Amino acid sequence: MPPFTSITIIGAGNVGSHLGRALAAVGQPVLEVFSRDKGKAQSLAAEIGAQPQSELAQLSAAADLYLLAVSDDAIGLVAADLCAHLPSGKAVAHTSGGTPSEVLAAHFQRYGVFYPLQTFSRERETDFSAVPLCIYSPNSSFEAALLALAHRLSRSVYRIDDAQRAVLHVAAVFVNNFANQLFHFGQQIVEQEKLPFDLLRPLILETARKVQDADPQAMQTGPARRGDAETIRRHLDYLQKFPELAQVYEIMTERIMGSA
Ligand SMILES: NC(=O)c1ccc[n+]([C@@H]2O[C@H](COP(=O)([O-])OP(=O)(O)OC[C@H]3O[C@@H](n4cnc5c(N)ncnc54)[C@H](OP(=O)(O)O)[C@@H]3O)[C@@H](O)[C@H]2O)c1
Repeated sequence: MPPFTSITIIGAGNVGSHLGRALAAVGQPVLEVFSRDKGKAQSLAAEIGAQPQSELAQLSAAADLYLLAVSDDAIGLVAADLCAHLPSGKAVAHTSGGTPSEVLAAHFQRYGVFYPLQTFSRERETDFSAVPLCIYSPNSSFEAALLALAHRLSRSVYRIDDAQRAVLHVAAVFVNNFANQLFHFGQQIVEQEKLPFDLLRPLILETARKVQDADPQAMQTGPARRGDAETIRRHLDYLQKFPELAQVYEIMTERIMGSA
């Protein structure tokens, strides 16, 4: 028997959309999809066989889990609004890596976290069955139900408490957001020189592939790792036309040399 008979998704952005599709794909009924944007609520709801809703006050109280896939800063506000309209016994979980579960505690007795550790963009397909799901609730029976739901969606499920999730999220910012920003810097350089970014894409892919079964530090290559001072000097000369990138280059070069 499924851990929840019906689920309502609040937020039809990147995570709300992926979560909705993943729930529908395993036959988990989604009752309603809420977005302040009527069109977004309608399009996701139609895709996954749910009802659209754009007024929080109009949400049905019939769902037994409310998943808040809204921006981090809106979680507390939306929970406060929601609790004014729902019976206090309802169960609520948010999907944020960087937000403590306690932001929900003032509003609901059964609260928790359903954090998918992946980068999601609404328009890109993601194999949800491979996404690590980090689950937590201070209420053990609710946590067991969230874990059971997570196991229906993914083969990679972890119980991760608030303190663990907070540090995991810092690490995730480094390997995802910062790495992606570095890809963007590389793109700026090649585009400045009228070279195609496609030249760098296989390198990006192999860098990510290597660390799937090896230690990132052991896999480091390049001038800083080898201590090729003349090459580094030539790179810094070139980067005079990108002073901000030169700063990043120097910091990263020092870090790589320091950890060699
Ligand atoms: N994207 C990722 O890769 C990722 C991965 C793991 C976890 N997360 C977490 O998942 C959550 C959602 O992230 P996302 O990337 O899906 O964000 P997103 O695409 O920007 O979507 C955020 C949603 O929040 C809604 N929202 C914002 N403020 C609101 C308010 N005051 N009242 C009601 N709704 C409000 C937006 O509604 P409107 O459309 O009406 O503006 C939108 O549907 C965040 O907690 C994030 O930390 C994200």
